[in-house]
Amino acid sequence: MTDRIAVLRTLIRAHDYAYYVLDNPTVADAEYDALMQELRALEAASGAPVPDDSPTRRVGGKADGAFAPITHAVPMLSLDNVFNAEDFAAFYRRLQERLNSDALLYLSAEPKFDGLAISLRYENGVLARAATRGDGATGEDVTANVRAVRTIPLRLLSDTPPAVIEVRGEIYMPKAAFAALNAQALLDGGKTFANPRNAAAGSLRQLDPAITAARQLSFFAYGYGAHDGFILPATYTELLAQYRTWGLPVCPLQRALTGADAAAAYMADMAVHRHDLPYEIDGIVYKADRFAEQQTAGFVSRAPRWAVAWKFPAVEKTTIVEAIDVQVGRTGAVTPVARLQAVEVGGVTVTNATLHNADEVARKDVRVGDTVFVRRAGDVIPEIVKVVLEKRPADSQPFTMPTHCPICASEVIRPEGEAVARCSGGLHCQAQRVQALIHFASRKALDIQGLGDKLIEQVVANGSVQSPADLFRLTLDDWSALPRMASKSAQNVLDALNAAKETTLSRFIYALGIREVGNVSAELLARHYRELPALLAADEEDLQAIDGIGPVMAQYIRHFFLDDANRAVIADLQAAGVHWPAVEAPVVNADSPLAGKTVVITGTLPTMSRDTAAAHIAALGGKTGSAVSKKTDYLLAGDKAGSKLTKAQELGVAIIDEAQLLAWLDEHSHHAE
Ligand code: IVH
Repeated sequence: MTDRIAVLRTLIRAHDYAYYVLDNPTVADAEYDALMQELRALEAASGAPVPDDSPTRRVGGKADGAFAPITHAVPMLSLDNVFNAEDFAAFYRRLQERLNSDALLYLSAEPKFDGLAISLRYENGVLARAATRGDGATGEDVTANVRAVRTIPLRLLSDTPPAVIEVRGEIYMPKAAFAALNAQALLDGGKTFANPRNAAAGSLRQLDPAITAARQLSFFAYGYGAHDGFILPATYTELLAQYRTWGLPVCPLQRALTGADAAAAYMADMAVHRHDLPYEIDGIVYKADRFAEQQTAGFVSRAPRWAVAWKFPAVEKTTIVEAIDVQVGRTGAVTPVARLQAVEVGGVTVTNATLHNADEVARKDVRVGDTVFVRRAGDVIPEIVKVVLEKRPADSQPFTMPTHCPICASEVIRPEGEAVARCSGGLHCQAQRVQALIHFASRKALDIQGLGDKLIEQVVANGSVQSPADLFRLTLDDWSALPRMASKSAQNVLDALNAAKETTLSRFIYALGIREVGNVSAELLARHYRELPALLAADEEDLQAIDGIGPVMAQYIRHFFLDDANRAVIADLQAAGVHWPAVEAPVVNADSPLAGKTVVITGTLPTMSRDTAAAHIAALGGKTGSAVSKKTDYLLAGDKAGSKLTKAQELGVAIIDEAQLLAWLDEHSHHAE
């Protein structure tokens, strides 16, 4: 068993390296899950303590309160900056003088990553401690959170690792993760991060490593600290090659080059390509590649003489605010947008900048006519940094948010304590329509397969779809007429739409896209009212009486159903053929075998869909859960049950099949009239 455990750990580490570091998976997800599952089971069964470097222990316990100070045995230095070719040439000459050489210098060049410096201490190949740079002499212990960064190996891929090696490098947040994090924060009315560096730092200082894990941080190695039992190679480039063999992520753009001209050419090349990189960089770091030369050059105070950061020109410019418009986005969020006199910032012409929300406009006090600093950072939407008050026109007026939607004229509502104001127009606001349709077709709603965002945008743009019901009225010819639509795809969309007409009441309620009503609340409403007319008639008091529906949601629901346009949309959908089976009455029968029990469904059932099974379980007084745990009472398993079945077997959870469920239904459900 211990042999198998060791084999599994090695195998999973190799798969992790291929997947996270090389971005080149070597195994299917399901197979990987199965290996993890097997390892977990064996570790649990062995009774032996599980070492920290086991792949099962990546996201462990909570970080214990504050982040303890750690004194760096070798201080973490910072870098001097240069901003142009002249200053770089001066650095280059000084280094030549220090090295007593007028020959071309051997340099390493690589991006300057916009994240935060970290020191990873590996003892006998195992990640023992991770510390932030802090002031360079003392940092903070962030081990628990660093373990949650998937590209950082918990153990080096080496049979003969050094006794000690401190690997230094940068933890950063990829642009896509940063954009997604901020987009979500805006939706939630939460705080956005100004740049990926702040986001990375904030994510690393979480008390719960699970949050760090969810933030998708990454890492590049670019240096070393204390080491023991490790003979440093001759050059930095070779050190990075060694790091690669150990499974540490190294930036593929690092180059060894010779002379100042080659250095300048690298800079010019990267200034163009930086915008295509999946992470933010703000310059190029040049280092003497030979460690012997680094030694000779030495350092002054806190920065080495053998390295420099050549920063890209600032991506901040001034321009004039010509207007402040509002945009209506998904869920009706009304976002103020500054229309700017066109200005080129970092190689891109900027004409708009988001102002996020009313508080943000008020805080920055941006007004029409103002001269402002705009900033662009890679993928990030251009932003107004600040107003140049000295240049403000005398007659300028503060901006106020509109009280009514500029698109549909419905009232704009900003609930107490929320940052975001929203158009209350719902499904009949043109701007919200596309998003509403995307939601309507999504997996947990009507699950219209093959009807993607692009198609929805097309049919709204060409005027053939106004409301969700229109989707069902489009013919094969209509779909085929769309640009780049193959006839087979058109038929597939048509088939998917037809199939989606048969749905459930809870999916239908969810698909309407009522604010705050997620699929769980939709299920509660469906179970409680069982028929749509009863829900349409429910007032707020009635709604709030349902366990799980609060006053805010009740208000949104009532508001939605009182709206004639929304009612028309519903009637129209039903007229187009959207229907669902009656929701069975729950059996308030204490001797039902599922009364108060939790059932998890997995695999493909022989005759019924999962939704139907869930409805039957509800009818028998049970609840459905999504993950198998000790609290699960039954696993309803179909074909290809996979890891949930293994887990249930491990935990001794009772396993039932569809036939058993049907038998219980037969015995215990007396359909109420
Ligand atoms: S080398 C002695 N290489 O820049 C050299 N630093 O201003 C120490 N940084 O704290 C660092 N990318 O957070 C180095 N490729 C890179 C870097 C890099 C980003 C950061 C690092 C450091 C700061 C120094």
